[in-house]
Amino acid sequence: MIELPPAHSIRHPTESDHWAIVDAIGRWWDTPNAGTVGRLLPRLFVQHFSGTSWIVESESGEIGAFLIGFRSQDDPEVAYIHFVGVDPELRGAGLGRGLYELFFEEMKAAGCTEVHAITGPSNRRSQEFHAAMGFTAHGDRDINGVLAYPDYDGPGEWRVVFERSL
Ligand SMILES: CC(C)(COP(=O)(O)OP(=O)(O)OC[C@H]1O[C@@H](n2cnc3c(N)ncnc32)[C@H](O)[C@@H]1OP(=O)(O)O)[C@@H](O)C(=O)NCCC(=O)NCCS
Repeated sequence: MIELPPAHSIRHPTESDHWAIVDAIGRWWDTPNAGTVGRLLPRLFVQHFSGTSWIVESESGEIGAFLIGFRSQDDPEVAYIHFVGVDPELRGAGLGRGLYELFFEEMKAAGCTEVHAITGPSNRRSQEFHAAMGFTAHGDRDINGVLAYPDYDGPGEWRVVFERSL
């Protein structure tokens, strides 16, 4: 069971949470592209993947953390985590781990045998986090000491691919 910070609760996101999540991405990410990362989370994710996503919020309704994930339509044995974010003030206390473990548990119960995610080569925090969560990082080219796939998401958009068994 996920351990929440004091005076916080957890629920599935609704469409009305969409902008708050995108806004949090702009404030919480410290990668060079932080201002545009939120564009990778269009409204469709809270319209169609709410049941496999979570939002943690304070009693006053401030977003504290979120996870956006889903089960693959094409390969039902694969679960995918599209985004995870924790308010910088709540980091380092197991909230990111708790959200991942909650997702792992539900996807495993649904029949998934593996979970995938990706990140950018510059997002070292994400790479450390995924390593701690038991993911193996994949890539076929070295960029500043990190293995990644060049042009994975378009020209210049290199990505580190993470995989973990459930
Ligand atoms: C990555 C992120 C979600 C981690 O959240 P968090 O609540 O601080 O993580 P936790 O406290 O649950 O840590 C879980 C594990 O990851 C490790 N970890 C987390 N951040 C780390 C860091 N910066 N460096 C090294 N290890 C780290 C912890 O040591 C912990 O390991 P343990 O459980 O084996 O002791 C958070 O830093 C964040 O929101 N970052 C910005 C958004 C982002 O980059 N998201 C990922 C890409 S979608």
